[in-house]
Amino acid sequence: MNEISSNFLREHNARQVWHPMAHPVEMETTPPRIIVSGEGVSIVDLDGKRVVDAVGGLWNVNLGYSNEPIKQAIARQLAELPYYSAFRGTTNPRLIELGARLVDILKVENMRRAMFTSGGSDSVESALRIARQYWKVRGKADKTKFLALKKGYHGTHFGGASVNGNQNFRRAYEPLLPGVYHAPSPFLYRNPFDETNPERLSDLCVAALEDEIKFQGADTIAAFIAEPVLGAGGVIVPPAGFMKKVRALLDRHDILMIADEVITGFGRTGEWFGARLDGFAPDVMCIAKAITSGYFPLGACMVNEKIESAFMNSDDTLAAIFHGYTYSGHPVGCAAAIACLDETFARDLPGNSAREGSFMLDAFGKLAARHDTIGDVRGKGLMLAIEFVADRAAKTPAGKKYMGALADAAYEAGALVRVSANVMIMSPPLVLERKDSQQIVDAVTHAVSAVRLDPAQ
Ligand SMILES: Cc1ncc(COP(=O)(O)O)c(C=O)c1O
Repeated sequence: MNEISSNFLREHNARQVWHPMAHPVEMETTPPRIIVSGEGVSIVDLDGKRVVDAVGGLWNVNLGYSNEPIKQAIARQLAELPYYSAFRGTTNPRLIELGARLVDILKVENMRRAMFTSGGSDSVESALRIARQYWKVRGKADKTKFLALKKGYHGTHFGGASVNGNQNFRRAYEPLLPGVYHAPSPFLYRNPFDETNPERLSDLCVAALEDEIKFQGADTIAAFIAEPVLGAGGVIVPPAGFMKKVRALLDRHDILMIADEVITGFGRTGEWFGARLDGFAPDVMCIAKAITSGYFPLGACMVNEKIESAFMNSDDTLAAIFHGYTYSGHPVGCAAAIACLDETFARDLPGNSAREGSFMLDAFGKLAARHDTIGDVRGKGLMLAIEFVADRAAKTPAGKKYMGALADAAYEAGALVRVSANVMIMSPPLVLERKDSQQIVDAVTHAVSAVRLDPAQ
């Protein structure tokens, strides 16, 4: 990067652009880091500083930044056919190939069809629409409502924001979709029941969900949506068996189950898909992010045999899918995804995620024993979180200044981590080696010791 262009970049940083998920004034006063290159699991900023990317792009760069097979697949596809539409009447070879691969990989969950999208929010939007349409096709047009979990995150389209369980993503955009209701999430560290026993908490949350179903009337509810492990809400790992109990409850009330696997898909939790942690089979699965390791924007909404057959056995025009995107099944994205699947299998990334994740979780657990500012450590595979508190007994969340200082200190010490309110979130590439995991642990350990600010600040 030459001097002139570096100066230009610094001068214009966050000046002509509004960044997602940030106040524009804050971005001007504290400009974002300019990341100029990536290699392996590391990124390099404009000052030439190299750190391990413990954020993994945005939970998505599972294969790191130097994966040649994906880059070559993209280049080959660009040369062969850079784009063609998949709307009624045309398709492309990579789309057909990827559809077959995904249905094969998701045989365990009985998925039968893929509807391609341009990313996670699109996949959620598709899932919600298909759920409503399914019931109309089945002659139950009253089933239109959605249920979701508080603290869940499902992207930023109006549908996704409506099922979102975090006020930050809702307030400024209200009114959202009517007919969406939220139940408590099975979060051991903070829950409205003050329950610390996982089994009992699980049952209480299932009972609260059932209570809402009975109150609304199951004959008015289209679907329930949840992440198998809640990501942006602070890495909330439901107690073992919770999702299976929810599945059984939804079956009893004839309500569809949508698993939002946008983060948990493709090995992030240590299993190929989050649904496999608990061994449940949803009706719809939303996937995106790591499907291309972030190298190209792509996603899909997968539907199971039950939904497939309802549409296939209907000759009503209501069963035509008047939904889709210009970039549904983009050939370059599909080519990237096929290469990604091959690499994920060849390198057993779910296995590495489980191994490195448990190493780091263990290390952070030991760190928590030495520092009162750590209230909770949790995670599954390479979805990890450390929750910081100003007062451990009262669980008072640590302040913004303290959290910012922690992130800066970790960065100086060699790891980019993400801070969301009082939670430090880590989701590094799944190709992480032990030395890289150790570097993240060391950087975080250094930060927790070095930051002397009052955690309440
Ligand atoms: C679980 C979940 N669903 C949906 C989305 C939205 O995906 P995108 O940002 O690609 O639209 C995200 C993004 O982080 C997510 O974590």
